[in-house]
Amino acid sequence: MKAHINGVDLAYTDQGQGTPIVFVHGFPFSRVMWDPQVKVLSGQFRVITLDLRGHGESDAPLWLYTMDQFADDIKGLLDHLSIQKAVLAGFSMGGYVVFAFYRKYADRVKGLVLADTRPQPDSAEGRVGRFKMAQTAQKDGAGAIADVMLPKLLSPASVKGRSELVQTVRTMMTTTKVPGIAGDLMAMAERPDSVPTLKQIACPTLVIVGELDGLTTPVDARHMADGIRGARLETIPAAAHLSNMEQPEAFNRAVTSFVETIK
Ligand code: MLT
Repeated sequence: MKAHINGVDLAYTDQGQGTPIVFVHGFPFSRVMWDPQVKVLSGQFRVITLDLRGHGESDAPLWLYTMDQFADDIKGLLDHLSIQKAVLAGFSMGGYVVFAFYRKYADRVKGLVLADTRPQPDSAEGRVGRFKMAQTAQKDGAGAIADVMLPKLLSPASVKGRSELVQTVRTMMTTTKVPGIAGDLMAMAERPDSVPTLKQIACPTLVIVGELDGLTTPVDARHMADGIRGARLETIPAAAHLSNMEQPEAFNRAVTSFVETIK
């Protein structure tokens, strides 16, 4: 389905009934990454996934990618769906978006799931890396980005042995349009520090991390959970960054038992 929000068409899926959970994907992915969650969790909850602007089946304008803009788009989608309050679940860049959403619209949040993400902004070196990656995307296309990213997203065992999963992840990246990729990279490079946001979070929060995640590490996740009052931390065994796709059963179990407590 599509909704016209803030001047762009946004694609989304809305399945199931009960407590609404909005899943926000990472870079440079789409709502396809949440298929293992939609399939199972929609039996118990109202599961909403969307393609952020620049991704999947949503429009990819050449203009205006910021964490605040992504947050405004999600708020527009909640309004469109007449949802007053939802659990917001963000993976990696989606977590950066969720922090922005919480700063602007805390009254629309029932609970937070922060999966394989971190509150710190980019370092100066990290920002240079974003710039270079955007030039690569412009010059060589999304396939070149997929080549760089893939080994960091899944555990070596999955990269070697799970060809169907690898193909799904690769296709998600190679079909992302270059304006979306460059827009994300600029938005991530410019994103504010969310560390001060941690102590403002006053809703139930679940932090999830893959035990082999080298991009947003278990140590980062522990610090983040320690910084949020009452937050719960779940470590997913045998998973790297894309923990929800690599070990969906464990990820779904963690989300289910968390959301059940805040119904
Ligand atoms: C993501 O998975 O969304 C990205 O790796 C996040 C990042 O590059 O900071």
